[in-house]
Amino acid sequence: MNQAAAQSRIEELKQSLEEWNYQYYVLDNPSVSDQEYDRAMQELIALEQEFPALITLDSPTQRVSGTVSEKFSKYFHTSPMLSLGNAFNYEDLVHFDEQIKELTGLSAIDYTCELKIDGLSISLVYQNHLLVMGATRGDGIAGEDVTTNIKKIKSIPLKVAQPNLIVRGEVYLSLEEFNKINAERAAKDEPLFANPRNAAAGTLRQLDSTIVQKRNLDAFLYYYVNAIEDGIPTQYEALKHLEGLKFKTNKEYQLCHNVDEVWNYIQKYQDLRHQLGYEIDGIVIKVNDFKLYNRIGYTAKNPKWAVAYKFPAEIVTTKLVDIFPSVGRTGKITYNAVLEPVRIAGTIVRAATLHNGDFIIKRDIRIGDYVELKKAGDIIPEVIQPLLDRRPEETVKWTMAKKCPDCANWLEKTDDEVDQYCVNSLCPKKITRGLEHFCSRNAMNIEGVSEKIINRLFDLGYLKSFSDLYLLENYRNEIIELDNFGEKSFQNMIDSINRSKEKSLERLLFALGIRHVGQKTAQLLAKKFQTINAIQNATVEMLSVINDVGPIVATSVVDYFNVPNNVEEISKLINHNVNVKYLKSDSFVVQKLENQRFVITGTLSKPREYFKELIENYGGHVSDSISSKTTYLLAGTDGGSKLLKAAKLNVKIISEIDFINLIEGGE
Ligand code: IVH
Repeated sequence: MNQAAAQSRIEELKQSLEEWNYQYYVLDNPSVSDQEYDRAMQELIALEQEFPALITLDSPTQRVSGTVSEKFSKYFHTSPMLSLGNAFNYEDLVHFDEQIKELTGLSAIDYTCELKIDGLSISLVYQNHLLVMGATRGDGIAGEDVTTNIKKIKSIPLKVAQPNLIVRGEVYLSLEEFNKINAERAAKDEPLFANPRNAAAGTLRQLDSTIVQKRNLDAFLYYYVNAIEDGIPTQYEALKHLEGLKFKTNKEYQLCHNVDEVWNYIQKYQDLRHQLGYEIDGIVIKVNDFKLYNRIGYTAKNPKWAVAYKFPAEIVTTKLVDIFPSVGRTGKITYNAVLEPVRIAGTIVRAATLHNGDFIIKRDIRIGDYVELKKAGDIIPEVIQPLLDRRPEETVKWTMAKKCPDCANWLEKTDDEVDQYCVNSLCPKKITRGLEHFCSRNAMNIEGVSEKIINRLFDLGYLKSFSDLYLLENYRNEIIELDNFGEKSFQNMIDSINRSKEKSLERLLFALGIRHVGQKTAQLLAKKFQTINAIQNATVEMLSVINDVGPIVATSVVDYFNVPNNVEEISKLINHNVNVKYLKSDSFVVQKLENQRFVITGTLSKPREYFKELIENYGGHVSDSISSKTTYLLAGTDGGSKLLKAAKLNVKIISEIDFINLIEGGE
């Protein structure tokens, strides 16, 4: 076959294959047999192998090819991917509707109601008809380029009839796929995914594309980004338009003419949600008429023209098989429930938290009881109460543990606190959990030291305190002899431990695990006192000067540094050259615009709220009027009088492009 003949045959095959794909994956209505599809695919692969110059981005063969390399690159969304405010009941919806009526001056508003798919949002960019980018939401401003994996979703067209388009939607896994994946993982003794959303997110961010290929991810598209510019007047018509472009939309959407119709829609799907075959966690209600959007506007985080109604947490009943305590890094005792497996919010649950001993005693929860259980979103399921009318006869009153489940030391509890504590500073579990926390990403960010490794090194006596981490190199020969620990992983761990010496003071403070000192407090303390010595010498009064640091936190800090063991541990860390000074550059968050004051003027490519959010995300402030304190005037076209004033006050005027360079530069 010559090249010209090959080209026309390739075109023919591509068209048939994509059409069959559409019929199968979008319309759910297959038109050819698997064999016929495979035969055409094989023929296309063979032709493309013979004439590689004829391979195009939209070829169905390109869904299979391509692997993601080391990591995903960052993708800045052309307009932010916003999230929605929540509504939890009928009153919230009425309030939402009234606010819209007030802002628009209209007496009746149409809404498009859609299912809120419990997956993860993505943005697809088409240029010249071709899918050129598929990105995750990330922080809404920048996500990850997951194009290779997106192309594995067969319902997403690689080519569309419209030259340029940005469309957004939700990637999800059907319950059938989710259960299949977990069954396979169970058979291989691999940890199970907690819910379909986690499994979908894990899959989309999977670097090994062959794994993505095997798991049938799918996507519903619901958001046409430049609808108004493209002459589409309403959300309802935007969905129809997307369908016309052969995207898969979720077909349950409905136009409602008032809040009561919205409420009926919500009730309908609250009842139907478990028959859908995929998980939804609520209903999204969007003002239908796009013309009203600018008038309605945005809050700092969300558009005001849409709201997410969240279904109430589901409550189920099951039998409480056992109660056991566990000890955390602070010594706090938590009680856990062992349950007869039960399905809740789409997943099978076998364990739940019972919080503390007081919680159990107050509700007279007993082993053997039938209990009510609830799970909201990602949160660990919790036992609510026992069903007294179903209590079996043989149950006995439950009593709190008296000794630590790990070190058997007597537990302590004061009358004004609900929690019991193991106060033994040598309690192995407290130490190993504390070490895990010290190494965790938000603390010293030491890689390669998992819970398992910490336990192992602790048992062997190599690792009993934070400062021991910096001595592990001395046990090189012994440690690399251990199974699962080659030369390479040992070296990686040591390198990471050495890098942790350069971390900023707030990370160290947080890592130490001082009671009540979370990331925010650590940051405040570090910034104010600059060195660990200054914090160590501070009194409760001196510490309380900081806003947000109350007497409880201040006392806890002072108490911590009154324990000789802690002081000794810190001097050991200092001897190992661990940094104990405040370093601006290694904050928890990148604060590139810290202390910088912005004023925005003129027309920019996106709503002002977008830039405001961006500036605030990077630690800057935005105000309405210019003063000598203003750092930058971000000016679009038609900046008006603010430009003059900025010039008078010597305030630097920057364009949108300068601004993007400012935040992206130097990374
Ligand atoms: S609209 C600017 N519609 O729910 C508004 N979101 O907080 C864009 N979601 O981040 C969102 N189904 O990940 C919209 N039919 C739907 C949705 C939906 C699920 C997710 C989306 C968004 C979150 C809302």
